[in-house]
Parts: sequence; C-alpha cells; structure tokens
Amino acid sequence: MELTRRKFLIGTAAACAAVRAMAAPIAGEVAAFPHVDSSKSLGQHAAAKGILFGTALGVEPLKDPAYANLVGSQCRIGVSENALKWNALRPAPDRYDFSGGDYLYQFSSSHGMKYRGHTLLWEQALPTWFHNTVNARNAKAMMLDHISVVVRHYAGKMHSWDVVNEAIDPDDGRPDGLKNTPWLQMIGPEYIEMAFHAAHEADPKAMLTYNENWIEPENRPAEQKRQATLALLTNMKKKGVPVHGLGIQSHLFAETIVGGPNFAHFLDEIADLGLAILITEMDIRDQHLVGSVESRDQAVAQKYYDYLSFMLRCKAVKAVLTWGLSSRYTWLTKFSPRPDGSPVRPLPYDADLKPTPAWRAVAAAFDQAGER
Ligand code: G3I
Repeated sequence: MELTRRKFLIGTAAACAAVRAMAAPIAGEVAAFPHVDSSKSLGQHAAAKGILFGTALGVEPLKDPAYANLVGSQCRIGVSENALKWNALRPAPDRYDFSGGDYLYQFSSSHGMKYRGHTLLWEQALPTWFHNTVNARNAKAMMLDHISVVVRHYAGKMHSWDVVNEAIDPDDGRPDGLKNTPWLQMIGPEYIEMAFHAAHEADPKAMLTYNENWIEPENRPAEQKRQATLALLTNMKKKGVPVHGLGIQSHLFAETIVGGPNFAHFLDEIADLGLAILITEMDIRDQHLVGSVESRDQAVAQKYYDYLSFMLRCKAVKAVLTWGLSSRYTWLTKFSPRPDGSPVRPLPYDADLKPTPAWRAVAAAFDQAGER
C-alpha cells in the first residue's frame, strides 16, 4: 500500500486507544514465535500491514556489495545514520558537503526505498569550528540558514526529517524539561518551533518529526522524559507548529522491561494529538547478557518480538527502522562492546549477514500486527 503522507497521518488520532485497553507489561512473556514465510523480506512482511520497514544507512557500509544487496532487498526506507549531521554536511562555516547524503539518497531511490533525513538539529555531531564560530548573536541565523539550505537540497525527495533530536533532559532542571543545549542557550526554547517552521517552509511535502531516546522503559526517568515530550508536542500542536510525528528511537537493552501501562498511555496520548509514531533507531543491546550465543540470540529476539508486538498494537506506528541491519556494521561494536569481547549481536542479521532469530521475531511481529 503506497504510504502517501496523507495516508500516513490519517487515523493516527486515537489510533492507540486499543493499546490502553490491552496494555499490560508483556516483558518476559515467553512466546514461541509463530511460523513466518522466510521467502518474504522484512519490508514485505511490514508492507502487508501498511508499515514501512527499513534501517540506518552509512556510506562506508554500503560500499560492501553483499551488505548493500541485503539492505536493498530487505528495506523499504533508509535513514542517514551520520551523513546528514552537521559535522558531515558542514566542513566549514560557509560550505556544505552533500556528497554523503546524496550517495545515500541515490542508493535509496535506486532500490525503490524512501529516504528520511537525520538530523537537522542536535547538540552532538557538531563540526569542530562550531563552538568558536556560532554564538548568541548569530546562532538563529546559522540554524535557519542550515535548515533552509539542507532541506531545500532534498525538497520533494525526503519522506521525513528528524528536525530536532534529543532536546529533552529533565535532569537539567528546567520546568519544561528541555535539555540545556547550546541551541537553547544561544536562541532560547523557541528554537525548536523555529526549526520546524523553517523545515516546513523549505519542503512542505516532507513529514517533520521530533526524535527522542530513552522514553521506552517502564521506569521513573523514562516517565519524566515521556511527560516532558508530551508537553512539548502538545504545546507545538496548540501553536500550529508543523510537527507531524514523534520518532521513538528504541535503543533497548535485552534485559530492559518495556511495554508497560505508562508507555502505553503515552502512545495513546501522542496518537490523540494526530501525530504519527515512527520507531526510528531500533536495536537490542546484548552487552550484559551471559550464556551461549544461541541463548543470547533468543533473548534478543524475544525483546524484538515483545516490544514490536506491543508497539504495533498502536495503529499510529507507521514505520520501524533498525539502526543498522547487520552486526557487521553497528555502532554498538564500538560504543557498547561486550565485556567478554565476543561480537555484539543486536540486529536481524549477524556479522556474516546470516539472519539471527531476531529476523524471525521481527517478521512475526509484523505478521500479527493489524493493518494501518
Ligand atoms: O567517519 C569517521 C572516520 O573517518 C574516523 O576515522 C573515525 C575516527 O574515530 O570517526 C568516524 O566518524 C565516526 C562516525 O560515527 C562514523 O563511524 C564519529 O567519530 C562518531 O562520533 C560517529 O558516531 C555516531 C554517533 O551517532 C554520533 O554522531 C554513530 O555512528 C551513530 O550510530 C550515532 O547515532 C546516534 C543517533 O544519531 C542519535 N540517536 C542515538 C544514536 C546512537 O548514539
């Protein structure tokens, strides 16, 4: 089913009502995964229910022909992992380098995949010149110029943009829960809505999302982040800010309890705002798991199955992207290595590009999801 933006947004309101009724912590549910047709790709299993499946794209990994073929065969959407961040796009204050972002766009379009951009505004991945060039006097102009130039460059080609990434941190002590980033310090809290207005003006067709992390677990810090995220998005909608969706990154640990009633209620409230929900960066960390590879793989697969089964009960969830497709190229190898030094296995394919049990778990979750 062609997922035009209009279809993407229709029916999101109250699309999660069922979740509230059905929400019960499903973590630890031991469920044998139903049989799946392994001749179909994950993209096909998802598309059968009107869901877009894809993964993060990197320039270097896609130069590996076997990996590139796997991504092109399994995915219907790709997101730039690093190529559209400030430190990749902006070699100098007066220069843009679109080579990486264009390479990923060409790969996506040549494989019939949609393309989403990550991310226009973040306090990380900033170029080395940033902190001694951008200041309170020029920050707003620098931000708006960046968004206008970059979004216009891909206007009409971009499925969606993560306009602002990870702007909330209640630990910074602000009543609004916003993170005390350089952008907030130099421009003020209105930088977020300014960014969305600028992106919409540059490409009215693109879906514009706010992307956040660590809002999935059933614990107090995550609940505080959820409440601040809900407040931000509610206020933006009230003010007519062109925000169309929430990206829930979904970087999970295999042992994290997810799928609880507070998160279910949160999804319900996000859908009631008429926002689409995208799972934007999913992987399941096996860093702290012990035991055989087989038992660790099963625990990772179970978490994929439990989490996606829970999330996909909410009809506002329109896309599922993993953060890489194979552990041959995952950020976790460097950022969250296993203490025993054995390879991490957080994704639907292992480093030999063989499907892990997580592949079947993801396919089974799509098969049992309701159509959107
Ligand atoms: O490409 C250079 C390489 O030329 C150089 O030799 C090497 C030296 O260390 O660095 C390479 O760049 C690294 C880049 O990843 C590509 O591998 C950067 O140092 C490194 O900081 C960068 O990390 C990325 C990180 O975001 C920061 O931008 C990770 O790959 C990426 O997976 C991670 O993704 C973030 C999302 O954007 C936001 N949500 C959380 C997620 C995980 O942190």
